[in-house]
Amino acid sequence: MPQVTFLPAGVTVEYVPGALPHSGHGRPGSLLDVAIGFGIPLDHACGGHCACTACHVIVSRGDDQLSPMEEEEADRLDLAAGLTLHSRLACQSVVLGDVVVTIPDWNRNYAGESGALTAEGRGSKA
Ligand code: FES
Repeated sequence: MPQVTFLPAGVTVEYVPGALPHSGHGRPGSLLDVAIGFGIPLDHACGGHCACTACHVIVSRGDDQLSPMEEEEADRLDLAAGLTLHSRLACQSVVLGDVVVTIPDWNRNYAGESGALTAEGRGSKA
């Protein structure tokens, strides 16, 4: 089962691939899809259609455990603030194995769509 750790909250989630219901935001099984499935705040202004940079994350570990970056994502990422060599759009990055990602502070919406989380996160769901 893949494990995804979201920093800086330090929340690690583990799940059976394909078992999470698709949120309808981003590619099925994407980092955004996983985040939404577990209630992790991650902005996604365009709804996961590779049309903004709100879901920009930085991969701390496991670049090779995400689906390869496609041209559309690369073009969009070029517009992202704070771009790094390990930047990805969460809505386009399908999780293949264990990864650790950092959500930049400007992309964290702690008010959240559900309004349920705080900056401290909610701990491990593994
Ligand atoms: S949510 Fe807009 S590009 Fe990912």
